Amino acid sequence: MSYYHMGAAPFAGGHHGRDETAGKIYDSRVIARLPPYLAPVKGWLGVAAGGVLVRSAAQLTVPYLVAVATDRFIQAGDFAGLNVIVAIFVGMSLLIWGGSYLETRFLAYAGQSVLFRMRNEMFDHLQKLSLSYFDRNKVGTIMSRVQNDVSQLQEMLTQGILTIITSFLTLVGIAVVMIILNAKLALLTLTVVPVLGLVLFVWQRYARRAFLRVRQAIAVVNAQLQESIAGIRVTQSLSREDENFRQFDSANRAHLDANIEAVRLQAFMMPTVQVLTAAAYGLVIVFGGFQVLEGTLGAGVLVGFLLYIQRFFDPVLELTIMYTDLQRSMASGARIFELLDIKPEIIDREKAIELPRVRGEVKFDRVSFSYLPGVEVLHEVTLTVLPGETLAIVGPTGAGKSSLMNLATRLYEATKGEVTIDDYNVKDVTQASLRRQIGIVPQDPFLFSGTIEDNIRYGHLEADHEAVVKAATIAGAHAFIKNLERGYETPVGERGGNLSAGERQLICLARAILSDPPILILDEATSSVDTETERIMQASLGRLAGKRTCLIIAHRLSTVTGADRIVVLEKGKIAETGNHRELLAKKGLYYQMFEALRRSESV
Ligand SMILES: Nc1ncnc2c1ncn2[C@@H]1O[C@H](COP(=O)(O)OP(=O)(O)O)[C@@H](O)[C@H]1O
Ligand SMILES: [Mg+2]
Repeated sequence: MSYYHMGAAPFAGGHHGRDETAGKIYDSRVIARLPPYLAPVKGWLGVAAGGVLVRSAAQLTVPYLVAVATDRFIQAGDFAGLNVIVAIFVGMSLLIWGGSYLETRFLAYAGQSVLFRMRNEMFDHLQKLSLSYFDRNKVGTIMSRVQNDVSQLQEMLTQGILTIITSFLTLVGIAVVMIILNAKLALLTLTVVPVLGLVLFVWQRYARRAFLRVRQAIAVVNAQLQESIAGIRVTQSLSREDENFRQFDSANRAHLDANIEAVRLQAFMMPTVQVLTAAAYGLVIVFGGFQVLEGTLGAGVLVGFLLYIQRFFDPVLELTIMYTDLQRSMASGARIFELLDIKPEIIDREKAIELPRVRGEVKFDRVSFSYLPGVEVLHEVTLTVLPGETLAIVGPTGAGKSSLMNLATRLYEATKGEVTIDDYNVKDVTQASLRRQIGIVPQDPFLFSGTIEDNIRYGHLEADHEAVVKAATIAGAHAFIKNLERGYETPVGERGGNLSAGERQLICLARAILSDPPILILDEATSSVDTETERIMQASLGRLAGKRTCLIIAHRLSTVTGADRIVVLEKGKIAETGNHRELLAKKGLYYQMFEALRRSESV
């Protein structure tokens, strides 16, 4: 975005994919939330503000010194006086240096510290939000809040407010000094201000729309980029590069067009300000020149005036730019606090108790559930899994198998009915104590960057190496891990990219059984492993099963047939229950599924 260097750089930042037509520059709901962030850094802000005042005041004296030096001392040939002026000038330069230093340094401290606090708070908050929030919001949008919105608001809070105050003070200061120097000339110069104001006002309206378009266009570009990179494997395997490029090219072109339009507006504004500055110069030179010739005005004052005019227009421009920036910051602030205000839907009750070590009975009592209001995915499911029992859950894709497991771990809450573990309602115990006792291998196992050992230990940081190896051995993962060159220290690529799907599942199984939980849930955990590995897992499951409750969602026949009991779920309802032989005899859905599976597996 480097084409924006001409003074309007603040326009070009933050790209969020949101409409920002809301033009509020003062939003009391946002402002009211700011003090807690500013309070801890008020010392730094104070020092920075002091620096700004010193710098601005010192800068204001420079043209005045030039005027005095010319009229009083240079024309009079007063060397001693001139030396004093030079000394003062050096002093002022030092003050400007010092003020600038304090301003830059402490403003950055304050800004970075506010940024740090906000990001931490948002991360902490996001981690506690319920899964339903993440169902509703895209990763890209959430990222943009934590990254762009936070830095946008922070910039405004620190840099922005100071700039506004200094620009305003500088304007007033210059006007006052000019009036003191020569009131007539000052008023003449200031006649340009209303004209400039009008131009800026009209320009603003177009500019705001143009820059809004730029930001919307870049949001589209970013979204496409993000999705394309995330899905690069699919893209390449389907040779869809050309089509994706065509789409990207069109989004990118829209961005280019929006930028060109914005640049055109920019190109209009800068010379306009320059022309107006020149007009003010001209007025002062003509009328001031007359006065100098008449002898009523010192030549030095005229020079001083010209220098002030130059300085006068900078803050005017800065304030215009700030206006748009302020609007954007308010929008960012509103989005940030809206996110921070979202309450997690699933929270521990005030009187939630620690779930003691359970025997492992899992009971669903007339449980209904929907992710979206009105779309029920489980209807009145009643099921009791006995301690130590191995229960297989089968059924077509979308039947609600994974959803049922989500309710047992209380990642989601039943809309109706109750889920109990050993007669404890899952809503009455702390989420942490509940989840400690349920090991789960989810359907889409996720590995984090780090080593294999880190990944197995992910939820139980206290586990030592022996425990990790033991868990991996039970899971049937040890054999392949120890064959890797770096064994347990093998780094796992992003999302486990350098491992096969089956290997990832084995690692997740090891992770789930590391804490020796009384209840184990495997959601299609054997779907991607080869038959040999499956045999190993099967054996380990046999060992595992004896002393704990196992809920296994599976497609493999071997896993299903070995279970104590099988539940067939169909369209959110339990269609059939029984052991393998009983269900086959029924010749129902299970029988059909079994026949289809047997045919496919014997191929
Ligand atoms: N996060 C979600 N938000 C909305 N609907 C969902 C979500 N997850 C699953 N569903 C829907 O719930 C139903 C049951 O899904 P799921 O429990 O994953 O089925 P299964 O595991 O048996 O294949 C499906 O219709 C699915 O589209
Ligand atoms: Mg599923």
